[in-house]
Amino acid sequence: MERFRVIGGARLCGTVKVSGAKNSALKLMAASLLAPGKSTITNLPDIADVEYMAELLTRLGCEVSINKDKSSVTIDVPEKIAHRADYDLVRKLRASINVLGPLVTRVGEAEVALPGGDAIGSRGLDFHINGLTDMGAKVHSEHGYVIAEAPNGLTGAAITLEFPSVGATENIMTAATLAKGVTTIENAAREPDVVDLGEFLIAMGAKIKGLGSHSIEITGVAKLNPTTHATLPDRIVAGTWAFAAAMTQGDITIENGRADHLELPLDKLVAAGAVVTTTENGFRVKMDRRPTAVDIATLPYPGFPTDLQPMVITLNAIADGTSLVTENVFEGRFMFVNELLRLGAKIQVDGHHAAITGIDQLSAAPVAATDIRAGAGLVLAALVSDGETIIEDAFHIDRGYPDFAAQLKALGADVSRI
Ligand code: UD1
Repeated sequence: MERFRVIGGARLCGTVKVSGAKNSALKLMAASLLAPGKSTITNLPDIADVEYMAELLTRLGCEVSINKDKSSVTIDVPEKIAHRADYDLVRKLRASINVLGPLVTRVGEAEVALPGGDAIGSRGLDFHINGLTDMGAKVHSEHGYVIAEAPNGLTGAAITLEFPSVGATENIMTAATLAKGVTTIENAAREPDVVDLGEFLIAMGAKIKGLGSHSIEITGVAKLNPTTHATLPDRIVAGTWAFAAAMTQGDITIENGRADHLELPLDKLVAAGAVVTTTENGFRVKMDRRPTAVDIATLPYPGFPTDLQPMVITLNAIADGTSLVTENVFEGRFMFVNELLRLGAKIQVDGHHAAITGIDQLSAAPVAATDIRAGAGLVLAALVSDGETIIEDAFHIDRGYPDFAAQLKALGADVSRI
């Protein structure tokens, strides 16, 4: 099992380049199933999840070729595709649930294993299932699989989500592209990943209005055509670098970073004392003092992203002052606080609130990554600890941060993989 070894103390300075968003790329790949023929997705991140999704699409009958430097993939989708996504692959990546909508709308049936995914609390599928049921699918679960049937196709419906779920918005939106008539999704997710997917679908010939708003309207068409699309840059990776700069009192220019997708996190960093400026093709975060503690509450976009919550807790752990961080999206996301406590952080968790008292410096110790973002948060914590921190289960970090150790090293950190 690979581990990260980090010696704390370095000020991170320099330039990093952000590649395509994991949470977008995987969904674009899944949505390519909607159109027979060759779709190409560029600006891919070089992460294992892309290979797992490629394997899943191959098993469904597609010919998938990833280019040499792993930055683009061409998916040749046959007229006739299979409809079963097996547990051995689905358990490796939660995003495989995104084949459910495309399969049921194109094939008339889908059998998708119930995903595992990150250990960040219960992640239901009820909104996905209710949405597809409203569109006329018969859905039930059996032997660990969700089975959806719509032999005569789906019919547009008016759907209101209980919570603006990213995954449910995506599955319903993709399913609606080939349904008969108009589907509306109220209380839809507004995340840039959802907009990116919607733009990909529009390029395929889908009729979609209201992307990026609470209300999305999709008018079904008879057929979609393959297309080529560049994945949008990863806002969570860009945000992680922004927090790394602030915490290490560094100066990082984040190339391809979209400041407009990170308004609230960057505002919070400014409140913590950082100077944030936009550059020609990204933004720069500079900090020359100990950060001031900031309160945050995670919320669906454009609220503060839950995926950056470990980074803000880690910043507050070494900040000047006390703070309150509230998690409103995933109830299990505070699990990594136990690891931060091992580094000497002063944090009290009560339900979905964490009260943090900043201390001058964390104290290096062995810790374990529990999910992608917790893993990245622990790397940042290790950077501001005295001595050597070993982070077990580095594979979690690799799932979201291509080439993380090499990029950290290039910025001046003492990091290696062991
Ligand atoms: C996606 C992202 C994840 C991010 C999250 C929120 C991917 C692969 N993952 O996850 O990194 O943290 O958005 O921005 O893109 N819920 C239900 N029933 C449902 C669906 C969701 O109760 O049918 C709940 C979940 O348990 C959670 C909340 O709704 O508490 C939000 O989940 P959702 O937005 O669906 O997140 P994901 O799409 O799983």
